[in-house]
Amino acid sequence: MMIDYLKQAIEKMSKTAHDIKGGIPYLAQGKTYDDYSSRPSWWTNGFYPGILWLLYQYTQDKRFQTYALSVESKLDTVLDEFKDVDHDAGFIWKLSSVCHYEFTGNERSRIQGLKAASFLASRYHPQGEYIRAWNGDWARGHAIIDSLMNLSILYWASKELKDEGFYQIAKKAADTAIREFIREDGSLYHIVVFDESSGKRNGQRLGQGYSENSSWGRGTSWALYGMTISYRETKDLRYLEAAKKVASFVMKHLPSDYVPYADYLAPHEERRKKDSSAGAITACGFIQLYQLTQEESYLDMAKKMIKGLHDTCLAPEDHQALLLHGNVAYHAKDIHETDISIIYGDYYYLEALMMINGFKGYF
Ligand code: GLY
Repeated sequence: MMIDYLKQAIEKMSKTAHDIKGGIPYLAQGKTYDDYSSRPSWWTNGFYPGILWLLYQYTQDKRFQTYALSVESKLDTVLDEFKDVDHDAGFIWKLSSVCHYEFTGNERSRIQGLKAASFLASRYHPQGEYIRAWNGDWARGHAIIDSLMNLSILYWASKELKDEGFYQIAKKAADTAIREFIREDGSLYHIVVFDESSGKRNGQRLGQGYSENSSWGRGTSWALYGMTISYRETKDLRYLEAAKKVASFVMKHLPSDYVPYADYLAPHEERRKKDSSAGAITACGFIQLYQLTQEESYLDMAKKMIKGLHDTCLAPEDHQALLLHGNVAYHAKDIHETDISIIYGDYYYLEALMMINGFKGYF
């Protein structure tokens, strides 16, 4: 069944890629994705090139490579002019430049990947042992659970440069996530704020979840997949334990169709909103956890989640996107951000199907 789902997704996304070519899709409210080419620093701009590299891995069709290179070149100004770079440098350049370098050995892409990793490392605050999230005065001392996924480019740079510094920063940030974000029951805070000078925790804030004390669906998926990646890269059992804790929280709270709520701990009567993107990311986390532990329950859960997405969230044939029912944030007011298709939902759905069928994921 999983191989049929993969073939169906490859066919759909190939068609979409030939439509979009070197554009940069983010959201689709109906049939057609928008284009973020004029906002090169936007955090989701790596996911479409990531999809193109997945398509290339599966098909070996050079046209996907050509489209990916065209998107990658649109992102260059961000690094070359140090323009609005933030904590999401990993998402953007691990899936564009680093993929390009790993598939072809392209030297300029290697350098862009290393620049992205260096800028990300420079956001590490040694007092509080966190990686700063957004830019702007309002965001001083802010760290977010999502950044666990961005650590992947630091682990890559550490190996590429044979320099432990990147690795140590990634580990410190993962340690802070265990200490300050993940609660005893495996639920978690989205945003934690630190005093920049002393590094002392100043409390948590409402981010994209229901409340500051709930557990945002996609944030929970970033934690599960991100902790699993830190375990893969370091073999430190504390990260495995943290990943398993989040995994068991998710398993306890998933609804019967296995598509996560936009927030697992929103009050029962408000727990209506779903987020397909959280489902796709969580499925990737479970697959990776299975690959590292060989515990069948994780593979079983990944299959149930992928089937849940396939049965309840697949977009109609004439839509460019793979999945419907994504949500940018629990309280998003803009209809363009509510119950829509989102490029990272499509990326992780395809990555989950590739990984479960023996292909390579890129985090
Ligand atoms: N990293 C931001 C999000 O997941 O929406």
